Amino acid sequence: MIDLHLHLDGSLPPELFFKLAAMEGVGLPAGDVDGLLPYLTAPRDCKSLNEFLEKFALPVSCLQSEETLFEAARGLAKELGREGLVYAEVRFAPQLHRQKGLTQRQAIQAVIRGLEKGREGTSLKTGLILCCMRGRDNREENLETAAQAAALLGAGVCGLDLAGAEALYPTRDFEELFCKARKENIPFTIHAGEADGPDSIRAALSFGARRIGHGVRVTEDKALLEEVIRKQVTLEMCVTSNLQTKAVREGREHPALWLLRQGAAVTINTDDMTVCKTTISEELKWLRSMGMTREEERKLWENALKGAFLPEEEKEALGREVRLRL
Ligand code: HPA
Ligand code: ZN
Repeated sequence: MIDLHLHLDGSLPPELFFKLAAMEGVGLPAGDVDGLLPYLTAPRDCKSLNEFLEKFALPVSCLQSEETLFEAARGLAKELGREGLVYAEVRFAPQLHRQKGLTQRQAIQAVIRGLEKGREGTSLKTGLILCCMRGRDNREENLETAAQAAALLGAGVCGLDLAGAEALYPTRDFEELFCKARKENIPFTIHAGEADGPDSIRAALSFGARRIGHGVRVTEDKALLEEVIRKQVTLEMCVTSNLQTKAVREGREHPALWLLRQGAAVTINTDDMTVCKTTISEELKWLRSMGMTREEERKLWENALKGAFLPEEEKEALGREVRLRL
């Protein structure tokens, strides 16, 4: 199994919060996992991506030092290895971890070290995607994230992303940032077509995005859908997350399987294992219950391999590993 789209802060094992909060000197709103879960997971009646994103405040407050970032990345990689993933591209936004004075570089290096440590003794390989954030006053921080991605590409970092409130800060406003990324040859993906429509996806593709985070609203525009299929743009789809953020109203309306059958390069991912209370196995189980065949499942892994931000020779080795397990 492969997961190309999972956020570190939204995917931490809930038990780990007690250790992280103590290390960080942060008070938690509950003393046990059951009490803590409502603060970490999106509510059943979550209304929008904006409300969903509120669930990141607590994890982010517990991840403000190299030690806690290391522990978090280690804990997540260990969990992913235990679950049987062979490859995961974990992502986080280094600029959110500077409240106590860390530089972006320090935050990134701590996460890289944590991932390396956590996957020891497992079959898991990892990459790290750095998220820039949608916002009004963080142009410099985003440019710094892109500069760090350029500096550390192939040395723990594999790509760049844009996350945050898509409906409030449209994709078209980030042209300068991704123009820079493209000049530096940094592979990138952009969250688009989740809380905003086809224009957001179109903007991301015009910047040169090779992959789209979610992209569910590609179905609203026939010409765009044809382009996404023709160019085999990787769609990083996350079903449970889409239901919570109301990008899709109901499970049976989710377009993942339909898009796969139309020939789009669909992949299945978790987005946020803790906020969404899911795992990659759960996401697959749901797709199977909707009628996904074994052949279609194989296609998902082929798509994930093709879309991975990895050099070709590493993709081939990973492909052999994946096929062995099918
Ligand atoms: N969209 C945008 N930003 C995010 C998401 C998402 O689904 N999950 C975590 N950060
Ligand atoms: Zn995401």
